[in-house]
Amino acid sequence: MLGLGRIRAQPRTSRSWSFSEMDFDSKRKSNFAGKLLLATCLTVMCIIMIRHSPGFSGLSEFSRHEPGVTHVLVTGGAGYIGSHATLRLLKDSHRVTIVDNLSRGNLGAVKVLQEQFPEPGRLQFIYADLGDAKAVNKIFSENAFDAVIHFAAVAYVGESTQEPLRYYHNITANTLVVLEAMAAHGVKTLIYSSTCATYGEPEKMPITEETPQVPINPYGKAKKMSEDFILDFSKTSDMAVMILRYFNVIGSDPNGRLGEAPRPELREHGRISGACFDAALGILPGLKVKGTDYKTADGTCVRDYIDVTDLVDAHVKALAKATPGKVGIYNVGTGKGRSVKEFVDACKKATGVDIKVEYLDRRPGDYAEVFSDPSKIYRELNWTAQYTDLEQSLRTAWRWQQKHRNGYGSPLAMAI
Ligand SMILES: NC(=O)c1ccc[n+]([C@@H]2O[C@H](COP(=O)([O-])OP(=O)(O)OC[C@H]3O[C@@H](n4cnc5c(N)ncnc54)[C@H](O)[C@@H]3O)[C@@H](O)[C@H]2O)c1
Repeated sequence: MLGLGRIRAQPRTSRSWSFSEMDFDSKRKSNFAGKLLLATCLTVMCIIMIRHSPGFSGLSEFSRHEPGVTHVLVTGGAGYIGSHATLRLLKDSHRVTIVDNLSRGNLGAVKVLQEQFPEPGRLQFIYADLGDAKAVNKIFSENAFDAVIHFAAVAYVGESTQEPLRYYHNITANTLVVLEAMAAHGVKTLIYSSTCATYGEPEKMPITEETPQVPINPYGKAKKMSEDFILDFSKTSDMAVMILRYFNVIGSDPNGRLGEAPRPELREHGRISGACFDAALGILPGLKVKGTDYKTADGTCVRDYIDVTDLVDAHVKALAKATPGKVGIYNVGTGKGRSVKEFVDACKKATGVDIKVEYLDRRPGDYAEVFSDPSKIYRELNWTAQYTDLEQSLRTAWRWQQKHRNGYGSPLAMAI
């Protein structure tokens, strides 16, 4: 520790302290000069120490661009999709900075990632809220990012109908903060997490990227607004922009390192896979299927379920193909719709539990049928879904759920 140990403080009289290597007992004037000198020395040493410490951004690997290494800022990297994406980016030798306010993510997921990639300069975690423009700008000024993958968001359709302002703030306003920081600090590649909810309830299936976007809930509207200003900004800049509109994401890391662990208080808004697993684990008494009178083959909603491993692969391909001054907009789905009833059957088989199902009225903000036409992303990015066996994806996720009945433990558990 740079010689601080050599300066020892010792009590000398009841009134004053001195340092053993120095004599401060002469005249008052020289006493003052000595203290001044000492203070100066300590200050200089502190600066040297801080500058040499691994976390100091001035000299850390994270603060400078390195040829051949892409430093990606992953917002929301402590969350479900962001943590899986970080794992893949690190596996692909990228450098990653996660920024997350842990409002919904888990520090335990970051710990898993750090254990997998402990080498200096691979992964850093920064606890910050993207709504805090000052903090975000500081992060951008202290780190040399090559690209941003902006996952961070609140992301529940039902919740968005109950707390619309929260959604516009967290999604729309915060994306503006991120984009402004990118522009101010010359970061030129953005991959944006969008959603099929921006399409609303189109008349024609499957949904292509040309399908009109008429969102019907605040979540979809907030994401669409973000897309709009990203596109407007891209017309005036040479930023490389990729907008990925995900369909319904399921599954988890096939090697069992990461999983989906939403907060218990979000269960009521929860996604179908979480609800199925909770029912299979006995945390919930059964499943509540909301709406059986939709215009679909069996009356329940139809969705396009995309495995998180495939989704992450789409991001990696989008990052590789991102081109300055160009925008790519892609649906990320399997192209195949599955009804809620089909999903529940697959979940029963994957878990081996005969989950009790209760059929209820429709939920506000839901739409009947949504599935993608993923041909554009295949044509342009050579991406196609590989993990299309619903039961298999659920079996993988179920293995993680069984081993992690409390998710990652306390979301704020001091893991690093
Ligand atoms: N899960 C899906 O089925 C799905 C479908 C379509 C689109 N998406 C989009 O994918 C992205 C990731 O979703 P997810 O399922 O991983 O959600 P998640 O809740 O698991 O992760 C979101 C992460 O963002 C963080 N976060 C939220 N607000 C923040 C803020 N103000 N500052 C910093 N961090 C913040 C949370 O703490 C969390 O770690 C979201 O943008 C979502 O809209 C998800």
